[in-house]
Amino acid sequence: VSTPAVVTVTGAAGQIGYALAFRIASGQLLGPDTPVRLRMLEIPPAVKAAEGVAMELDDCAFPLLDGIDITDDAKAAFDGVNVALLVGARPRTKGMERGDLLSANGGIFGPQGEAINAGAASDVRVLVVGNPANTNAYIASSHAPDVPADRFTAMTRLDHNRALAQLRHRTGAAIDDIARLAIWGNHSATQYPDLTHATIGGRPALEVVGDDAWVRDTFIPTVAKRGAAIIEARGASSAASAANAAIDHVHTWVHGTPSGDWTSAGVVSDGSYGVPEGLISSFPVTAAGGAYTIVPDLDVDAFSRERIDASVAELVEEREAVRALGLV
Ligand code: NAI
Repeated sequence: VSTPAVVTVTGAAGQIGYALAFRIASGQLLGPDTPVRLRMLEIPPAVKAAEGVAMELDDCAFPLLDGIDITDDAKAAFDGVNVALLVGARPRTKGMERGDLLSANGGIFGPQGEAINAGAASDVRVLVVGNPANTNAYIASSHAPDVPADRFTAMTRLDHNRALAQLRHRTGAAIDDIARLAIWGNHSATQYPDLTHATIGGRPALEVVGDDAWVRDTFIPTVAKRGAAIIEARGASSAASAANAAIDHVHTWVHGTPSGDWTSAGVVSDGSYGVPEGLISSFPVTAAGGAYTIVPDLDVDAFSRERIDASVAELVEEREAVRALGLV
């Protein structure tokens, strides 16, 4: 049996945390050969609730769960961490300006980045789920100069999975027959779910769908606004599907993408596809050898160019705003 991996979840007593913790502890994050030491970081008022989650985790008697630590101290939470899932964030409340939202999150993700920089294991991988996820990841990475920037990622796997589901509904295809779908840009309503390279059973997805108006007027907005539709229906934001996507994101990062396929993740730009270097933007990515790599040399048609540019412009604005606020 290998030594346990330290997996830290922030916001562990929240709704995504509650859906995530059990799947991590059961082995779905890192696989059946890796025991897990689970660290839960919460703010003081939620520590008691985290203790309740820990009691339930105990009661599952998961063979792979080596132990649980609960803390409200970021330094302790990230000491020796191998996988950090940054879920806890400051939600936007009524009347809150964007600057206030970014400042509040800068106050969370800046210090967490510093704590990761100070104490994380050399192989640390960070996934930011808490919104605004791309910019929060950018803030955390900026505060962790000794950690390679490609270890900080933001979650767009939920958007990717939502796009797969919409395409399945439209075409009747099996999920496993759909390949090369991509989410570009920001995890926000400006994101661009891209079918131009996607295939279904080897055939171009756009040809199978045969209806460009559906792609433009139904598919793209349905995927981009799915989060709001869930809130409307459930009276609460996506939690189990978000946790599922976080599991997928890390599992793929560690175990790789199938040959001939790719996935989507918010990763640091190397300047590819006209996305300014250093921004954390969603791209089509492959994973191999424990690293995500941007899929190179794809043709970008005029429509895609416009959509990618619009979402990236939003990321640039967010970066300018956090710079102006002195958060990075
Ligand atoms: P929630 O409000 O149920 O839970 C958040 C938890 O974070 C709370 O328990 C809170 O006490 C904790 N927290 C707040 N500040 C913290 C800090 N400084 N350190 C540690 N913990 C802290 O929220 P939920 O539903 O679990 O969502 C979490 C985040 O994930 C939100 O920002 C949400 O917008 C985002 N999200 C992102 C998605 C994506 O696809 N990237 C999808 C769905 C949600």
